[in-house]
Amino acid sequence: MRVLVIGSGAREHALLLALRDDPEVDALFVAPGNAGTALIAEQHPVDITSAEEVVELAQRVRSDLVVIGPEIPLVLGVADALRDAGVACFGPSEDAARIEGSKAFAKEVMAAAGVRTAASEIVDNPAHLDAALARFGVAAGDPAWVVKDDRLAAGKGVVVTPDREVARAHAAGLLEAGHPVVLESYLDGPEVSLFSLVDGRTVVPMLAAQDFKRVGDGDTGPNTGGMGAYAPLPWLPAETCQQIVGEIVEPVAAELVRRGSPFCGLLYAGLAITAAGPAVVEFNCRFGDPETQSVLALLESPLGQLLYATATGGLASFGDLRWRDGAAVTVVLAAENYPGRPRLGDVVVGAEADGVLHAGTARRDDGAIVSSGGRVLSVVGTGPDLSGARSVAYRIIDSIKLPGGHFRSDIALLAAEDKIHV
Ligand code: GLY
Repeated sequence: MRVLVIGSGAREHALLLALRDDPEVDALFVAPGNAGTALIAEQHPVDITSAEEVVELAQRVRSDLVVIGPEIPLVLGVADALRDAGVACFGPSEDAARIEGSKAFAKEVMAAAGVRTAASEIVDNPAHLDAALARFGVAAGDPAWVVKDDRLAAGKGVVVTPDREVARAHAAGLLEAGHPVVLESYLDGPEVSLFSLVDGRTVVPMLAAQDFKRVGDGDTGPNTGGMGAYAPLPWLPAETCQQIVGEIVEPVAAELVRRGSPFCGLLYAGLAITAAGPAVVEFNCRFGDPETQSVLALLESPLGQLLYATATGGLASFGDLRWRDGAAVTVVLAAENYPGRPRLGDVVVGAEADGVLHAGTARRDDGAIVSSGGRVLSVVGTGPDLSGARSVAYRIIDSIKLPGGHFRSDIALLAAEDKIHV
């Protein structure tokens, strides 16, 4: 099988490594890729938001399967164009990708499917902002306001704060830039990312994971695209996972079928485990980053065959997924000033080590690897348990040199110390 992966992050590096381990995969291509993926796949610098360019590349390299990593090509309909051209594609249609691309659509689907989620309101007129703020957050008895950019913002458009002025300033800034704002009620409880492979009605959950969105230790500082993740979640009862699949993911998949927009690809449910049960924070229409780096480190089933089965409607007969014992912890190394405007062009030393996945990296003419994005590397450690996996990940990241680089030191720490309870 010849597989083309679309994207350039550590998620795509993880996908390529797992695909390479599948005995049925004999050729790998990536567009546009990074300095790490260039070592394992043939790299093609195409514009991944252009359906025309992606279809042309898929046909030129004779790919049997295209796997789309990021959300932007999906919400722009690149998967539809591939399928129309007769190329099997792992990734939902433009219509189904609205589950991530439009918060209003996601809320509508969840309401129709009877799924528990935060109450929300869209504000698109600055004159309505103060009245709306008075209906949410501390004003409504919640511990904080939750203010989101209604447009795709790579995780960075969210502010959760007990300070009304901070909430107001974020919302006003978004409105001034012409972005509608979503105000949501606060969902209290530990967060879970549950990925499910979905082909229409068939739902196959993967291992549950947790990610760390704030930039600083102890969940401090601004939101990022994700600073680390781990899997599995020793504190999450198996029945809660079954409940998430049976009461949330399957009804949403069925609702999308009912609307004529069946989902085909990876449906990512971001949840809070509240006192009332699991509630949806958001849906995404693709593999999460950095959770994928941890989840795929533990997958034993052949990924190429699994994604191909999903893309071609054969998931129901694929059989149960197989997982390695133990745990995986991913720690993200970010460039100076990330999640603000990151400093780029710094030389990274030690990025060739085992367990290092590349994201914002490029190879300079002199052969040096330099930073080219905010999240530069993901370092993945595996071990018999979370403590062992943490030790491996932090040992590797301590050996890497990036001027101004920073990472969180507490990824998976509370779970390893058995301090998370639901
Ligand atoms: N880990 C958050 C995301 O992928 O959106």
